[in-house]
Amino acid sequence: MSTFTLDTATSRATPTPVPGKRMTVPALRARKAAGKTEQPIVMLTAYTMRMAQLLDPHCDLLLVGDSLGQVIYGLPSTVPVTLDMMCAHGAAVVRGSWHSLVAVDMPFGSYEASPQQAFDSASRVMKETGCAAVKLEGGAAMAETIAFLSQRGIPVIGHVGLTPQAVNMLGGYGARGRSEAEAAKILADAQAVADAGAFAIVVEGVLEDIATQVTREVAPPVIGIGASAKCDGQVLVTEDMLGLFERTPRFVKRYDDLAARIVAAVETYAGEVRGRSFPTADQTYRPKPA
Ligand code: KIV
Repeated sequence: MSTFTLDTATSRATPTPVPGKRMTVPALRARKAAGKTEQPIVMLTAYTMRMAQLLDPHCDLLLVGDSLGQVIYGLPSTVPVTLDMMCAHGAAVVRGSWHSLVAVDMPFGSYEASPQQAFDSASRVMKETGCAAVKLEGGAAMAETIAFLSQRGIPVIGHVGLTPQAVNMLGGYGARGRSEAEAAKILADAQAVADAGAFAIVVEGVLEDIATQVTREVAPPVIGIGASAKCDGQVLVTEDMLGLFERTPRFVKRYDDLAARIVAAVETYAGEVRGRSFPTADQTYRPKPA
């Protein structure tokens, strides 16, 4: 439950931080002990201060996903997303949260060339946003980079299975692991990322058996999206689960239909503006009584 304080400069209610400690990387990692996670990890994407404020009390992890490319900027994929975008949104989400661990996605082209490039980009993200961790896509090919970052104080979340930044290689966003070779590669990728020091691993868009096997076999918590309820935690794109888009992937459960509710509210507003029934006396200023 949040309480609110009035920001007198803006007349807006700002959630009052609940005294306590922000989730840490070691605490999150420790959720999985001896291969078991008693308390599944709750993770959602957030790109803005206000959304972070609303999600934060209910989440363990807020991900500033590069899915903001499509969700916020209307880009065709995550490929054009830049470090500048991730830093601006990452800083807003850190400002809007006090409880969840905030992780920021490394955008395409900012980390793949070398461990040094990844360190330069990730350290910039951490300095400019105040986030506690970064996430990067890729399996065995990224293991050296994940080890390089982890050993230098940059906690990393791995991301295997369907890796949206590789959409041009994959040819689309279909589920991965339908052939034996592909399934074996996903398992090997997850193991490589775990061995390299990732403190958690996102497994996206894979056949359920693969997700459960990865969850059983790797030591760090596995956070599923389009994966399995048996993973150590779940993540969704918040705008998808709130029903802000007419079409969402099959693995998304819509917990609301915000698009319909927004359209209804805006239709009412437009009608009232056109009919001059808004604003009323309640929303207009009068001289103060003498
Ligand atoms: O960018 C993103 O939102 C993600 C999640 C879907 C895991 O990577």
